[in-house]
Amino acid sequence: MDPNTMTPERKKIILDCDPGHDDAVALLLAHGNPDIELLAVTTVVGNQTLEKVTRNALSVGTIAGITGVPFAAGCARPLVRTIETAPSIHGETGMDGPAQPASTIELDPRHAVDLIIETIMAHEPGTVTLVPTGGLTNIALAARKEPRIVERVKEVVLMGGGYHVGNWSAVAEFNIIIDPEAAHIVFNEKWPVVMVGLDLTHQALATPDVVEKIAAVGTNPAQFVMELMEFFTKTYKDAQGFDYPPVHDPCAVAYVIDPTVMTTRKVPVDIELQGKLTLGMTVADFRAPAPEDCHTSVAVDLDHEKFWNLVTDALVRIGEPGEPAAAPAADLAAAADLAAATAEAK
Ligand code: BDR
Ligand code: CA
Repeated sequence: MDPNTMTPERKKIILDCDPGHDDAVALLLAHGNPDIELLAVTTVVGNQTLEKVTRNALSVGTIAGITGVPFAAGCARPLVRTIETAPSIHGETGMDGPAQPASTIELDPRHAVDLIIETIMAHEPGTVTLVPTGGLTNIALAARKEPRIVERVKEVVLMGGGYHVGNWSAVAEFNIIIDPEAAHIVFNEKWPVVMVGLDLTHQALATPDVVEKIAAVGTNPAQFVMELMEFFTKTYKDAQGFDYPPVHDPCAVAYVIDPTVMTTRKVPVDIELQGKLTLGMTVADFRAPAPEDCHTSVAVDLDHEKFWNLVTDALVRIGEPGEPAAAPAADLAAAADLAAATAEAK
């Protein structure tokens, strides 16, 4: 609670992303939800090159009407490995499908790693949550460059990994396998890590009833999401045999908004760096009891309806950016009085 207003304080997050169809939905959810204070948006190579995902992030920010939030570009390649992108899922632009508007947001000149560090250090300890929805290169470098952020961050709620399933190899998930060394750093620092992995996000399917609800919102940002989902549905069917696409990244944002949207289990998780067949596997140890000092947990079951209601509600609240927001009733009454007085005076 904020003692001055007695209203619940908004949850401060930094979204580190690689848009990406589902990253775009994550950004819209973060912006449109009243319980989230979006402190910064940072980008990292992943679904496409850094240049492309940064352009995409700025486009989504423009469509959503985001102002006053710094957007900064980060690492253009993983720590050790060569770049691997995902055109089979996200297309050549990284966000194929809808037309993208020219951005009205200017890119912050800082490197994402510096913006992440400065933002965390500028806020009270324990108040900033990191939400990475791409490879973990920026986050790992930030922890190495300024180790004090590790104890200041409230928690790291990341989309990545999977304890029973992979999507980029038999056992590894894309965000982890593209930069496993960075993931190793992030999972081994002693900050609380919530792994919102494939076991959970494969429950966040954009089923026809979900698409119908989004269509009913009837705004440009909602139409944009529909077009993203149209493309995503096709690639997820062609490349991975899904009937409906799993919309991974907003699940991590949803957990920050309302942790009851999913169940989690506290288990140690480490990253496989040596295995010929298992590189990038998030190895979760479910043997009980979990060690006292266990700082990692994994997401297990999703409340599908609650999750999609959060997304739809955010789209409703975003409305049509560019149009003036509805004036509060008091202002409308004052405007009516003024109009009447002006008419009388004529
Ligand atoms: C993750 O990989 C990316 O393609 C998506 O944006 C998501 O973050 C799913 O494996
Ligand atoms: Ca992503």
